[in-house]
Amino acid sequence: MPRRPHKTRVSALPLAAPAQFRRRASTRHGLGVFAVKPIAAGTRIIEYTGELISHAEGERRYPTAPDGHEEPEHTYLLQLDEDRVIDANVGGNDARYINHSCAPNCEPLPAGDHMWIVSVRAIRPGEELGYDYAIELDEPHTPARKKRFPCRCGARSCRGSMLKPKHAPHHPLIRAARRRWDLS
Ligand SMILES: C[S@@+](CC[C@H](N)C(=O)[O-])C[C@H]1O[C@@H](n2cnc3c(N)ncnc32)[C@H](O)[C@@H]1O
Ligand SMILES: [Zn+2]
Repeated sequence: MPRRPHKTRVSALPLAAPAQFRRRASTRHGLGVFAVKPIAAGTRIIEYTGELISHAEGERRYPTAPDGHEEPEHTYLLQLDEDRVIDANVGGNDARYINHSCAPNCEPLPAGDHMWIVSVRAIRPGEELGYDYAIELDEPHTPARKKRFPCRCGARSCRGSMLKPKHAPHHPLIRAARRRWDLS
């Protein structure tokens, strides 16, 4: 009989100690979050906390400009599922300072009403934590719109923009993480 692949629930992944990472200035933008001690792959580093609200309420609080950009520029919103977003402007923690990377070492993974930032590979001390914001606009990703979301992650594979090319597959590490860990 074929054996079903063993999957670990996100909520069962080991938790990082708070001393393993810390917030500080980043060359990418403003503040970022950095490893200060080694972090193993498959670690729940920090929960992305905040108020759970509907997409409609998120749009009411932070309207999208005609070019797809949120107003004001820096909001702390992360999609939890098809119905809900997390507004880290209300009750947010350091997870909201994790910047975007085109070569991510982390991924936000949902577990019920919670969102965890999980390492998708081993992370060395000094490395900045980053996940792919993978922003997709309803409108075409024209060069002008890409410029409204510039990326300074510094990766060799940097796309130059936090917009994700439409229909492009996620980074292989992210696809592997999503296959490996049950999202429940
Ligand atoms: C949730 S905040 C991240 C924390 C932010 N650095 C801060 O100090 O508040 C998201 C904003 O940070 C900026 N950002 C994040 N990653 C970036 C990157 N790789 N390159 C340029 N700007 C980035 C963008 O302005 C984005 O809208
Ligand atoms: Zn980049």
